[in-house]
Parts: sequence; C-alpha cells; structure tokens
Amino acid sequence: MKYQVNSLENHWMPFTGNRDFKANPRLVVKTEGVYLWNHEGGRVLDASSSLFNVACGHARPEIAEAVSRQLQECDYSAPFQLGHPWSFELAQRVTRLTPDEINHIFFVNSGSEAIDTALKIAMAYHRANGDAQRLRFVSRERAYHGVNMGGVSLSGMVKNRETFPVVMPGVVHMRHTWLEENRYQWGQGDHGAHLAEDLQRAVDTYGGTTIAACFVEPIAGSTGCLVPPKGYLERLREICDENGILLVFDEVITGFGRLGAPFAAQAFGVTPDIMTLAKAITNGAQPMGAVAVKDEIYETVTEAQPENAIEFFHGYTYSGHPAACAAGIATMEIFEKEGLFERAARLAPYFEEKVMSLKGIDAIIDIRGYGLMAALDIKGDGAAMQKTLFHRGLHLKFTGQAGILAPPLTVEEAQIDEMIDILRATLTEAG
Ligand SMILES: Cc1ncc(COP(=O)(O)O)c(C=O)c1O
Repeated sequence: MKYQVNSLENHWMPFTGNRDFKANPRLVVKTEGVYLWNHEGGRVLDASSSLFNVACGHARPEIAEAVSRQLQECDYSAPFQLGHPWSFELAQRVTRLTPDEINHIFFVNSGSEAIDTALKIAMAYHRANGDAQRLRFVSRERAYHGVNMGGVSLSGMVKNRETFPVVMPGVVHMRHTWLEENRYQWGQGDHGAHLAEDLQRAVDTYGGTTIAACFVEPIAGSTGCLVPPKGYLERLREICDENGILLVFDEVITGFGRLGAPFAAQAFGVTPDIMTLAKAITNGAQPMGAVAVKDEIYETVTEAQPENAIEFFHGYTYSGHPAACAAGIATMEIFEKEGLFERAARLAPYFEEKVMSLKGIDAIIDIRGYGLMAALDIKGDGAAMQKTLFHRGLHLKFTGQAGILAPPLTVEEAQIDEMIDILRATLTEAG
C-alpha cells in the first residue's frame, strides 16, 4: 500500500508542525472500522476516533452509499429562501435525541461555526426580548470552542489565543475545573462544585443583566477530558436561571453517545438552553455542525419579526448541504439500529478498568475519564509521544501533555486491550 505524493510542500497543514511533518510524514491512506492504514502499509488502531468524530467506526458503507446517492439525485440546493427535504429530516432525527425542550436545529459546517452561530443566536434572542444590553459572555479557562473569532474569544487555551490578541470584547473567564484533589478520579469528582461560583462572581462584578450566555463544554474535551465536579453543572444552571443568562453546552465532542447517553445534557441531568454539535453528527464523513436550541429561543427570535420577514440574518452557503444531511441521516440510522449509545454505556466500565490500570506508570501523572472518553496526562512532550505511538500502531490525539482516548463506540473489548497494551509498553519505556 505504498502511496506516492510528489510533493507535500503546497498544503499548509492545520494545527501541525508543517516542517516536521513534511520531513517525516504520517499519511493515512485507508480506513476501516477502528483501524487506519498508513502509507507504508502499517495498521494503526484509532484510539481517538480520529478527532473524536468517527463514532460508528470508519468507512461505513451505509454512509458512503447515502452520500453517493444524494449527490446523484440532488447535489445542492441554495439554503437561503429555498430548501430541500433532507435538512428537515435530519433536524427531526437529531431532535429525537436532544432533551425534550430542544427541538430546533440550525445547520452549519463545523463546530467552530456552531459556536459563532450560538453567540449570534444568544444576541438575537436577548434583542428580541428587549434585552439588547446583554452583550457579555462567560466562558472558562482551558476551554476549546473552535477557531473562529467568536470561539477564540471564548477559548481558554493559551496557544490558541496568544497569536490572536484581537478578539471579541466582553468575555469573562471562569476558572477551569481541574483540581489536585481530583487527580486519578474517574467520573465526577467530589471536589470543585464551588468553582461554579465564578459565574456568580461575574454576575456580582458586571451585573447579571449584562450577561448574554455562559458557554461551557460539559466535559472540557480538547484540553484533556476535565469531567465536571459533582454539583458544578447544576449550580451553573441555577445561576443562569436566577439571572436570565442562557446556558450553552458545547457538545461538539460529548454529543452522540460518547458519554453513554445521547448528550452530556442527559448524562449529567442538566438541560442547557442551547447546544452546539458537530463531529459525530456525520461520523466524520462530511463536514457539518449544528446549533440546537430550546423552542422558546426559536419562537422568540422568529416571532419578533413580521410574518414574511427574514428573522435571523445569518447562514452559510453550505448550511445543511444535502450530502452532509444524507451522511447525518445515515449516521443517525446506524446509532439507532446498532444501539451505539447503549453500547457505549455497557462498555464504559470495561474501558474505565483498562485505562485506570495504567496508573502507576512513571510517565503518567493523571488519568481522568467518563463514558468512552478519557485523558492521560504525561510528563514531557505530548506531540512527540503522539508520533511515537503512531509508529507503534496507535493513533492517540494529544493536546499539550494530555492524550485523549475516545475510541469509536463500535470498539471491541479486545481492541481496548490492544490499545492499552501499546500504551503500557510505550509509556513504560518513556517513564
Ligand atoms: C468542544 C469543541 N467545540 C468546538 C470545536 C470546533 O470544531 P471544528 O474543529 O469542527 O470547527 C471543537 C473541536 O475539537 C470542540 O472540541
């Protein structure tokens, strides 16, 4: 399976050390199930569902066939003032999974676009409510909300911010939820509910009536699986309710079964007002994101305008692209037919036991997890470790020193064992 590329020079790769990669490339040329194959023919177990998006496993024929059929039947239809049936169908299918009060979906093309769209929806909602002075947003340290300007403004990861200091004004950051007391805690820690009081402090400092929304990843994903302490999300919900602040859950990673429930909202029993979605919505086969909102938000924004007016001046040329919708519908069918959310819940204790068995290896300094998602904090350079692991047959996505395990929901126990064996051997040597 040798693959020839004449030159790697012209493609400026995202979030990649370009010169380093081009000197020693890691090209993926074939995918199937939980495996990738590199350009030298080596098989690589995909422990991170690539970028936490390939939830049903790679190269699902049902999705490929649906996309191909769609492109031959109706490849594209303008999404402004025209429509096609498949976006309505996908919206209906996604809202069967969202909490009861959340039944309206705005389609976009990525998680980053979902975040910027959610910021605008929050502003539009408050304006329609006669509350246009609510322009401040609350986010959190170590947050990752994508890379568009709104998302960078909310972001709490220094590397994603420091080169781009000109961001949206009026964003306040709460503290992150990693605590020494919760080291090696699987699931929700007993310590840290008080960190939700940072939202109350923002209310006390700036005035609750100036704050539009509070954005959090229910489990902070990219920074390394920071599970919310017990009581934390509940307290955020309370403070939002007391002050008319919208609670936004960025479920780009936690959505679609990763936690053994459709969304983190159900896993933790806390219902936000808005959810941002992407990644597993199409199983990675097509770019797509979505913003799911409570009915009251949709109704407030739409009813504030005359009957025949455009109510929300926002959208993308590829909002709800037919091929992405076809991939999304096929993905929802797989989730349902194969009971993948329940499967994730069933596998979670096995996954926990295996991942936690790595505790004690010198190179590891913390392990956290929930459902089929976990993080290992290691000593030293995560990017170097990611490369070493890839050459040993494991794809594990690192951000900084945190390696994030999030296998496809279709993973078998034996494949979890394989993953852990490679990690144990490699990290022990690194120790
Ligand atoms: C929580 C969260 N929000 C937003 C994004 C951005 O998504 P995208 O890369 O599709 O723009 C990500 C990506 O990892 C994410 O994890």
